[in-house]
Amino acid sequence: MAKVTIDGIEIEVPDGTTILQAARMIGPEVAPPTMCYYSKLKNSGGYCRSCLVEVTKGSEKDPRPMPKLVASCRTAVMDGMVVGNTTSKKVIEARASVVEFLLLNHPLDCPVCDQAGECHLQDLSYEHGNYKTRTEFERRTFEKLDIGQNIQLHMTRCILCYRCVKVAEQITDGRVHGVMNRGDLSEISTYVTEAIDNDFSGNMIDVCPVGALTDKTFRFKSRVWFTKPVDAHRDCDKCSGKVVLWYKGDDVLRVTGRKDQWGEVEEFICNTCRFDKKQTSDWTIEGVREINRHSVISANKYTKLVKPKEFTLNDIKAITE
Ligand code: SF4
Ligand code: SF4
Ligand code: FES
Repeated sequence: MAKVTIDGIEIEVPDGTTILQAARMIGPEVAPPTMCYYSKLKNSGGYCRSCLVEVTKGSEKDPRPMPKLVASCRTAVMDGMVVGNTTSKKVIEARASVVEFLLLNHPLDCPVCDQAGECHLQDLSYEHGNYKTRTEFERRTFEKLDIGQNIQLHMTRCILCYRCVKVAEQITDGRVHGVMNRGDLSEISTYVTEAIDNDFSGNMIDVCPVGALTDKTFRFKSRVWFTKPVDAHRDCDKCSGKVVLWYKGDDVLRVTGRKDQWGEVEEFICNTCRFDKKQTSDWTIEGVREINRHSVISANKYTKLVKPKEFTLNDIKAITE
């Protein structure tokens, strides 16, 4: 076991725990933001630098501070380590610069972007960024690309976090896309027109922290804060069948995995549950979904659930006769 102090709070954690995991064990008030790390995906993290922290004491044995800020998702704790996150001025400044870099090539698309309201980049820039940009040159742009039948890639908004690549690598049965080229020419691409149509590809949408990978069955149907998230499940032979249904009125506009307090899906769901089951009668409704993030979705949120009515053919005939 190793004792580590983060923002003045001490915790004992198993050897090999990363600083980020230790901070999450303490709680959200000291946990650094993450744009590429995803606890359910192996080898994620190390790309975005938004989780940087300052190590002011390396360990009990070697108390020297680490010379540079380190990525907390990739750095293991040592016994006696002292870490500054929100209490470190250097970290606050560096994080603002990281946001600036992430936004260097990012469009001002929020008013028309399906991710708005549940976008980690919006939250990151609001909470850690500068309110003004110093770069007014043209952002790089890409054509929108269909990745299979149900997913659209808008590379212009991608921050190259590699999460979708890890999903494809680890939970689908054959990766056909990845990051091509290097530097400012990097882009997510499929091998020419190869479509991603395996059973779990839709999870790329859930892990994408921005609006680069979107659900074509949901695009432009509603701003997310006008929808009502509801927990539901069904017997599924491919996945756990535990999902969130996003209602508008009586219509299920989209189906997603359930996300925890870190914005990560609890269990990956299959494409049948996600794209093909959009009727209330397909599901057993459990109740109102708690949205843990301090997002606009939680603002003025309803607390009671009125089970949406399923119209039968007879009801429709009665209305139209
Ligand atoms: S990805 Fe997020 S920050 Fe970017 S345009 Fe969409 S909502 Fe705005
Ligand atoms: S498309 Fe989304 S998930 Fe994939 S690398 Fe870009 S930002 Fe990350
Ligand atoms: S979350 Fe650690 S580098 Fe991205």
